[in-house]
Amino acid sequence: MYQRKNSQKKLFRRLIIVLLALFILSGAAYGSYLYLSYQDAQATAEKEQQVEDKLLADAKSATAAAEAKKNEPVYITLPGADKILAYISDYTQPENIWMIVSKTHPISTDYVPANLKIPDVETRTDKSDAERSARSDIETPIKDMFEAASESGYSLMIGSGYRSAALQATYFNSLARSVGEEVANQTIARPGQSEHQTGLAIDLTTVSRYCYLSECFASTPEGIWLAANSYKYGFILRYPEEKVSVTGYSYEPWHFRYVGVELATALHQSGLALDEAWPYLETALATLKTNGAVQ
Ligand code: DAL
Ligand code: ZN
Repeated sequence: MYQRKNSQKKLFRRLIIVLLALFILSGAAYGSYLYLSYQDAQATAEKEQQVEDKLLADAKSATAAAEAKKNEPVYITLPGADKILAYISDYTQPENIWMIVSKTHPISTDYVPANLKIPDVETRTDKSDAERSARSDIETPIKDMFEAASESGYSLMIGSGYRSAALQATYFNSLARSVGEEVANQTIARPGQSEHQTGLAIDLTTVSRYCYLSECFASTPEGIWLAANSYKYGFILRYPEEKVSVTGYSYEPWHFRYVGVELATALHQSGLALDEAWPYLETALATLKTNGAVQ
């Protein structure tokens, strides 16, 4: 009886030991499971963080690249001329200095420059205040050019500056009545087709008005000086003698158009009329747009 009880006790102890061992083992297994799961989760989190970091870095460098592209310099190289930089603001219609107005590039007849002013130089006082005006942002270049001419002994005068589309129509119709529209349009632009409407064009003369609006102005000392030097102040002789078929207008040695010193110099070096240079300017504009350039 005593022996049986003893072996029962032993069996019971063994059972306890086995159960304990099982408990410890399963605890350890569960512990390792938890540990491994934790490690897995940590590795996954790390991987996810790495992917996130990479995405962020990629996005940042793409933004930086797009930003750099926006500011990338875009050059225009006219044949035979030094390259010049093009900025989107050079083209922004309508308040820019590169705008072209011609028979093929008309502007709205409603367009009026916002900043017209009678420049502080000699102007024809028998003309209206409006026609004696030009864009105020070209007053300094006008003054600089007049001063330089004066230092060389020549006194210039503005004969006609800004012309509204209505005034342009008056001039055009008046000539067309006597010579017909086609002939009139060889010398006077139709309303909406004159650069006088931009406030960037000026007809120049001498104070005596000798050879006013006449081809003989080209042979006057003032005309010769202007043809050789106006580009230094940002002005181009807009309708040259050898470009009649390009510009669509007769030779006008008195008509000067402001485009800024850089472009005027490049046009002077290349010998191109603004109309001929326009495709180069448009290509640069397309590149600026592709680059996402903003003002
Ligand atoms: N004489 C120039 C072409 C004009 O009328 O604008
Ligand atoms: Zn003119």
